[in-house]
Amino acid sequence: MTPENASQHCRQIMLMAPVVPVLVVKDAAHAKPLAQALVKGGLPALEVTLRTPAALEVIREMAAVEGGVVGAGTLLTEQDVINAKDAGATFGVSPGVTPRLLDACAANDMPLLAGAATASEAMALLERGYTVGKFFPAEAAGGAPALKAIGSPIPQISFCPTGGVNLKNATDYLSLPNVLCVGGSWVAPSDKVAGGDWDGITALAAEAAQLPR
Ligand code: 3PG
Repeated sequence: MTPENASQHCRQIMLMAPVVPVLVVKDAAHAKPLAQALVKGGLPALEVTLRTPAALEVIREMAAVEGGVVGAGTLLTEQDVINAKDAGATFGVSPGVTPRLLDACAANDMPLLAGAATASEAMALLERGYTVGKFFPAEAAGGAPALKAIGSPIPQISFCPTGGVNLKNATDYLSLPNVLCVGGSWVAPSDKVAGGDWDGITALAAEAAQLPR
């Protein structure tokens, strides 16, 4: 997959809704009802982080949920890319950008939303032909003002800011011309997931899906 095709694919996913839920799921039994709750609330694009032993099984379960588009987050190595693809992830997300990871995604036809927090990292993505990225860690890296500043000299790349983004500050990012959507875990709080409060999660998703951009 060329970087141009990968970027095009990611762009379509990023435009599906203003928020991509970032999911850390410990129990695969939660996968299906969680994905259904988020899709029902209007958030179809889901990022499942590869940070729990259950993550690949969670991706498998979620990939079968109608209306959902499931990606794998926290891709660090080629093996992560292979495992995620095998589990049914249709896009990948990484906290940063390395040549080896970009090579692995190209070789395995995995559209990647690679992390970038600085102008140099954004330039590294552009140099490889990518026109989308994940601004991470968004709040810690300077928040919306920093991303706005990066967009002035480098407007060619569009971002999904993630890391410390919530309902209150999401519009600061979504109003920027170089932002297509934001990512965040606030729509699937661990207590609601553990307690099986799927209606509560649908309500949070519906609220997030209404964010203007
Ligand atoms: C993460 O890596 O966990 C994401 O950046 C989500 O961050 P958040 O929990 O601050 O939304």
